[in-house]
Amino acid sequence: MPQVAHSSDAAASALTAAACAAGARTGGPELDVWASCAPGTEPEAAAELAALGWRPPDLPSQSWSATTNAALAWDRGAVHGRADLAATIRTLCTARTVTGVMLRLAVVDLESEPGGTPADTSGASTGAGDVAGERNNPSERNNPSERNNPSGRNNPSGRNNPSGRNDPSGPHRESRGHEGQLQQVHAVIAGLDWSRMPDAAFAVRARTGRRLPVDLEQPVTEVKVELDHQRLRVGYVLGAGFEKRAWLSAHHHAGLRPTTAAALLGYAGWADGERLIDPLTGGGTIPIEAGLTTLRWSVRNDNPERLRALGLEDAGLSAEIRAEIRADIGAAARQVRPLPIRGLELYGNHVATARANRSAAGLDDAVRIDQGDATTMAGVDGVECLVTNPPYGLRAGSPRIVAPLYEAVLARTAERMAAGGRAVVLTPAEDVLREAAAGAGLAIADERAMALGKLDVTAFLLTHR
Ligand SMILES: C[S@@+](CC[C@H](N)C(=O)[O-])C[C@H]1O[C@@H](n2cnc3c(N)ncnc32)[C@H](O)[C@@H]1O
Repeated sequence: MPQVAHSSDAAASALTAAACAAGARTGGPELDVWASCAPGTEPEAAAELAALGWRPPDLPSQSWSATTNAALAWDRGAVHGRADLAATIRTLCTARTVTGVMLRLAVVDLESEPGGTPADTSGASTGAGDVAGERNNPSERNNPSERNNPSGRNNPSGRNNPSGRNDPSGPHRESRGHEGQLQQVHAVIAGLDWSRMPDAAFAVRARTGRRLPVDLEQPVTEVKVELDHQRLRVGYVLGAGFEKRAWLSAHHHAGLRPTTAAALLGYAGWADGERLIDPLTGGGTIPIEAGLTTLRWSVRNDNPERLRALGLEDAGLSAEIRAEIRADIGAAARQVRPLPIRGLELYGNHVATARANRSAAGLDDAVRIDQGDATTMAGVDGVECLVTNPPYGLRAGSPRIVAPLYEAVLARTAERMAAGGRAVVLTPAEDVLREAAAGAGLAIADERAMALGKLDVTAFLLTHR
């Protein structure tokens, strides 16, 4: 995904001056925003953002595949809404399921004809002015049938398809179409009102390998350009890289992104206080994220410089709101206490990794990480919620290797799960999982396609029959 960056920090202030002036002072100006997340985790991200104060975006409803959960809208890998400054700061400091937050510059559907012109660049024509309270007007020509539907659990028509698998409009388009799309992207970007960013030196980060004369590692102003199938999103980056948690000090070769782990906990319906286990815990991502959620320790993703460059620092908020935000983001130390959250891991080196991460997270006295075998789960009982991503068997390339593991782990899960308990298992080995669930007498209450980078996986929600 290309990112456009420029080196002038004062440049963007004009973008939001009008928004600041027009905004309600209590919560600050209201902004058009979107947040990025792993494809397939949009409903959980939307629920979290709604809880942080996001409201539905002012966009035509037919632009979106689903708007059920929390009335926020989303498309593949992004949730869109409006958030006042207080909600935006809360999101930057505390959101666990999203990887970044952008101020919306344009959301446009490109023409599906290879080599065609943009279906509607009205989002681009309002461009940066959009943050001053003008509406983007993305294409009215969206065809809902072309949209992925990453949202709906319990979709009776079958699986959701956030990954674009088997989608003829998907990534395997002919190269002429690809070129045509790039031309359309260029037209949209060029159509944005960049005059509001004076004296900016622009650079485009794409896979060109060329060095560019701006600081691409730490640009003060950064614009994200995402193209997913036909949909083009352009946004000023308020914060990004939220998946790089400060506690992630020790590396596990198959570590899950913490943002995805947080979303899986949401998908499992895990609630504070419930007994939670990840029996194949690797580097401990799932129990650590759960522990931090319970203690409401913020991830502190905020990038005050970016907000300041836009004239959006929290000084614009009332003292009460600022105090409220500080309380929300856990500025007051919260006491560590033993939590009913644990991880099991077979191999000593991975146990050490998980424990190092747990220490870095400050959770030594809160979360248990034990060396143990998930196929026996000795000493585990009354599990109310189990969330895990088992080995995928991809490197060995053989489901035969993971099948006995899945069978044993799910058999133990069925035995150790409390009445009303749920298990969420994330894997690309769907057939192996289905068979193991059937063999263990577990029902697949729901399933959701997700993407881990380029890997298509499925989250299965399992319950007692
Ligand atoms: C895909 S990784 C989990 C990654 C983890 N979610 C993270 O974010 O770091 C699967 C883990 O299961 C562990 N494992 C494999 N067989 C096991 C068993 N029988 N009991 C417990 N752990 C096992 C592997 O050593 C590996 O660390």
